[in-house]
Amino acid sequence: MSTTNLLKGKKGIIFGALDEHSIAWKTAEQVHTHGGEFVLTNAPIAMRMGTINTLAEKTNATIIPADATNLEDLQKLVDESQEKLGGKLDFVLHSIGMSVNVRKGRHYTDQKYDWTEKGWDVSALSFHKVMQTLYKSDAMNEWGSIVGLTYIAAQRVFPDYNDMADNKAYLESIARSFGYFFGRDKKVRVNTISQSPTPTTAGKGVKGFDDFISYAEKMSPLGNATAGDCADYIVSLFSDLTKRVTLQNLFHDGGFSNMGVSQAVIEGFSE
Ligand SMILES: NC(=O)c1ccc[n+]([C@@H]2O[C@H](COP(=O)([O-])OP(=O)(O)OC[C@H]3O[C@@H](n4cnc5c(N)ncnc54)[C@H](O)[C@@H]3O)[C@@H](O)[C@H]2O)c1
Repeated sequence: MSTTNLLKGKKGIIFGALDEHSIAWKTAEQVHTHGGEFVLTNAPIAMRMGTINTLAEKTNATIIPADATNLEDLQKLVDESQEKLGGKLDFVLHSIGMSVNVRKGRHYTDQKYDWTEKGWDVSALSFHKVMQTLYKSDAMNEWGSIVGLTYIAAQRVFPDYNDMADNKAYLESIARSFGYFFGRDKKVRVNTISQSPTPTTAGKGVKGFDDFISYAEKMSPLGNATAGDCADYIVSLFSDLTKRVTLQNLFHDGGFSNMGVSQAVIEGFSE
């Protein structure tokens, strides 16, 4: 693991570290390695299940619980984070996703709509809520960076991704729409990373995940991007080396998104 001072002096908030497989967990480790300081946050219920304390000790971070759908929790988080870190923020990672329909095995054509709304609130609208809280509190330093996590099912059909596909399309749109105002008014960039299938709690909750991750591996010329690879990419987006990258949906997927078919996949069909 290489160490740099790329994030030295930078402060931020990392949402979504549930356990050591989480993309946010790996990101916290890497941001710490590169000199950044941060507050870790997750939904209060997830903290009771998870092992976030270990991560906080390892990375010298403070934990402030917040349900990302709750505006009061978010305001408290943004205020207390600035107090704790001693100033405005330079980076924020939104690494949050959950579909009740997926969890409960409801088919896309048979959704329970209050579950759909709950999943949309957690997975998509929360990104707007986080940014609106940061924006109204003027909590971001100029040339700061906000990143959300998404998946290619926002653009292409992946049947078992269910209503999360629609949530991700909405999330990516929020990144562009809010990114415009954040860029114009505060010189802050906003991007989403469209990540390969990754074996985390959220990822493995999707039906047929094991077969699907093998398929993506065979399709991608560089193979699937891991959670650790994603953490490295996020460090680059938090650093000053990407100051004018904004309003983008950035594919981080070993090349999957531009493939039609690969030799390895075709071979599975030869008679
Ligand atoms: N795993 C994959 O295959 C994959 C691929 C592309 C994108 N993503 C995205 O990456 C992000 C991180 O997911 P992950 O794969 O690391 O899984 P994960 O299960 O480790 O992380 C999801 C996190 O969302 C948190 N969360 C759920 N409800 C919340 C709420 N109300 N308030 C605050 N936090 C809440 C969970 O506690 C958890 O920490 C998600 O946006 C996910 O959709 C994952």
